[in-house]
Amino acid sequence: MPNHPYFYGADWNPEQWPESVRAADLDLMRQAGVTAATVGVFSWSRLEPAPGAYDFSWLDRVLDGLHAAGIGAVLATPTASPPPWFTLAHPDALAQRRDGVRLVHGSRDTYCVNAPAYRAASRGVAAALASRYAHHPAVVLWHVHNEYGTWCFCDHCAAAFRGWLRARHGDLAALNEAWCTDFWSQRYGDWAQVLPPRATQYLTNPAHELDYRRFLSDSLLAAYAEQRDVIKAVAPEAQVTTNFVLGGWVPVDHARWSGQVDMVAIDHYPSSLDGAPAQSAFAADAARGWSAAAGHGGEWLLMEHAPAHVTENGVQRRKPPGMLARIALAHIARGSRGAMYFQWRAGRGGAEQWHSALVDHPGPGTRLFREATALGTRLADLERKGTFLTPSVEEGAPLNPSQVAVWFDEVCGWAIGASHLPAPVDYQGIVEGWHRALWRRGHAVDVVPPAARLGGYRVLVVPAAYLLTDTSARRLAEYVRDGGHLVVTYLSGIVDEHARVRTGGHPGALRDLLGVRVEEFDPLSAGESLVLDSGDVAAAWTEHLTAPDAAVLAAYPDGRPAVTRREHGAGVAYYVSCGLDDAATARLLAAVCAAAGAEPLVPDLPEGVEAVATPQGLWLFNHTDLVHVIGGRDVAPGEAALAASPGAPSPD
Ligand code: GLA
Repeated sequence: MPNHPYFYGADWNPEQWPESVRAADLDLMRQAGVTAATVGVFSWSRLEPAPGAYDFSWLDRVLDGLHAAGIGAVLATPTASPPPWFTLAHPDALAQRRDGVRLVHGSRDTYCVNAPAYRAASRGVAAALASRYAHHPAVVLWHVHNEYGTWCFCDHCAAAFRGWLRARHGDLAALNEAWCTDFWSQRYGDWAQVLPPRATQYLTNPAHELDYRRFLSDSLLAAYAEQRDVIKAVAPEAQVTTNFVLGGWVPVDHARWSGQVDMVAIDHYPSSLDGAPAQSAFAADAARGWSAAAGHGGEWLLMEHAPAHVTENGVQRRKPPGMLARIALAHIARGSRGAMYFQWRAGRGGAEQWHSALVDHPGPGTRLFREATALGTRLADLERKGTFLTPSVEEGAPLNPSQVAVWFDEVCGWAIGASHLPAPVDYQGIVEGWHRALWRRGHAVDVVPPAARLGGYRVLVVPAAYLLTDTSARRLAEYVRDGGHLVVTYLSGIVDEHARVRTGGHPGALRDLLGVRVEEFDPLSAGESLVLDSGDVAAAWTEHLTAPDAAVLAAYPDGRPAVTRREHGAGVAYYVSCGLDDAATARLLAAVCAAAGAEPLVPDLPEGVEAVATPQGLWLFNHTDLVHVIGGRDVAPGEAALAASPGAPSPD
């Protein structure tokens, strides 16, 4: 963990500004209580204006200036955006799209991660930075690259993919078997026939797509690790990370990567203003889960988020007064070592000239900058009081007192996305829906990757775990046997690690544990719904199943089982074969949690109020513009405060 108290600041791009503005920025940062600035992210063309010719003079001044101002530098390697000279010198190192189009410079991320020239140039610039700045007193954290996640389908990738497949599958016979290549006559007779999943006539093979994502994740991870090792070769004590970008389009398995960084760091941009508190809670809980499972104790860092807006369907909705601090503190309460933004000062030009910044185009005399300054003061105060919110999680212990968790596996989301399912399925949307339902009930919720320790959770929800390995299925059965209360939803346990359907009745991997057998999927059209005999409303997805070894809790209108319950060992396994609306989901979770003895942090938490458990006590966040009475105390509109206990809240 970096030897730095807490991180409050933003991406700063001094290379875009004259010296006078840089100097003013340092003064403003001090004024705002900034403790760290991320520098260098997109500065390759300034750092290395011509191959091998470095110009560090400007960065020397920037780092010296930060140090003199008492601000830490999160020093980035600039490899997410190679300069134009690189493109012209190495046309083979540019990313190639699925349809064969070779991209050119003009934006960012125009590189092929498997191109030797790109890797060599990246190592070169990382090594140059490391040898110059590894011992610079301003540097508190290294930030390799930016948001790894670039796709490429070129010949370099094809060759590397074949090597990766050999290591994974052994021989071609095993590959043909794993990928079911007899379908549509795609059997491979020679490794040279195996290509990336490039543009083709019609649907592609889901196993091929899935392995390609895994391969890209490993390729990108190797590129990260190479730079990390270059830095650590010069300064073994250096703390190194990279900023994860969340979203199903990124071919990065963040759970797997978390073991390779010194601190899990995420960027988070919610997709709706009203949904931002719940989405932020999910992202933060996911980051904490990755951190804990990778042995980092549940600590992590919110590396970037937008200061003043949430982009909703292309519209920048402004964050209302107070939201800046509330969202930042809600992340911090969930284990983030601070709150960093994109960006410090809004650019005059360039593709993101309209992205909000702590210092927006009008300058510092704004409501936003005043709020940023107030947040800086507040964080300094928390730090002084020793109440800065850093959880320390015992190895294997549940991360929160609610003992409630939701299973989240990005690889499963890839498998769902790659497959031509009976209906389109938004994996992360379903997982977030279950998380949100628990969050609304006032539970602290852990989001756990498949490798997480499960013992200790009273309730574990496994939504749409379409791809489930034999190991995971066994662990879930053991979890129930040992006393856990497991809720499994539709479309779980369907395919194996190669995206091959488990035959004999769904959900193949969990059929015995759940005591049900699904014969048919029967997804509903948009807007269509059914009322179960419990009065609950089912939408999106239904199934035809029998329950040979489970009790039926709710049935479809024709009497077929819809929601079931089976005792196994000391625990209980529930199966929810349909999509449930919010009210039905809440009712089910209330019953399951009550039976499991998993209590919310605050009973009857009002809608729009969020409770977060921290080692220092309970935090309450009022995201509404109403006063709510909790534990006998008024919680003001917009308030974000530490309460000693729900019964006796006291503002921090
Ligand atoms: C991410 C990137 C930044 C910027 C922002 C825009 O955080 O890392 O460079 O593009 O998104 O929201």
